Amino acid sequence: MLSNRQVSPGFYLLSAELPDSIPAIRAGQFCMLRSWDTIPVLSRPISVFDAEGNRVFFLYKTVGRGTAMFSRLKPGDPITIQGPLGNGFPDIAGRIAMVGGGAGIAPLYLGAKQYKAAGCTVDLYLGFSGAAFLTEEYREIADRVTVNVGGFITDTIDPSGYDAIFTCGPEIMMKALREKCKSGDRLFVSLEARMACGVGACYGCSRKTAAGNKKVCKDGPVFPAEEVFDL
Ligand code: FES
Repeated sequence: MLSNRQVSPGFYLLSAELPDSIPAIRAGQFCMLRSWDTIPVLSRPISVFDAEGNRVFFLYKTVGRGTAMFSRLKPGDPITIQGPLGNGFPDIAGRIAMVGGGAGIAPLYLGAKQYKAAGCTVDLYLGFSGAAFLTEEYREIADRVTVNVGGFITDTIDPSGYDAIFTCGPEIMMKALREKCKSGDRLFVSLEARMACGVGACYGCSRKTAAGNKKVCKDGPVFPAEEVFDL
């Protein structure tokens, strides 16, 4: 592990070096992280925030024992990283909006960078329940950034102006966005799930969708919104 800093109470940005053999990371993918041998047993799925060369960054929130252990890591401490895993955001051209809440803003950073590099226009909508953080970093890589603190970030977006919208964060926020979208709007959601294996082997992250049961770790974490919310 190379660095680990608190960016806001309960939120940390961790970076680590990956071996050269790791495939290129696609925004929206995640890694399974662990900094312990046997307890608390399962690795934790954490979204990739950024990737530069073989350096990878993770933005995470301390929500339990595993992430609390990550928050105490110091540079040089060992960490095991498995990944990148999952499908990531799809290739889409045009005008894109990315809507994130809390730790759900994490995949939008690399997402905005990669879509901008592909020639898209990218507007970001970032929602925070407490103080906002990393907003300057997001402003540097997007065309427009809208920040909402303590309210509903979904109130600030007009979905009709975009070729595609991506969202990540609390399901209540993603569902509110789904309800705001009209039938022709393309909305993709990045789901969170408790995971054991992270590679599609255990069914621990299985989720009912309109297209049958899907594994969030392998079939997702990014799904068309209508597949997971319109059941
Ligand atoms: Fe094992 Fe998804 S976590 S199948």
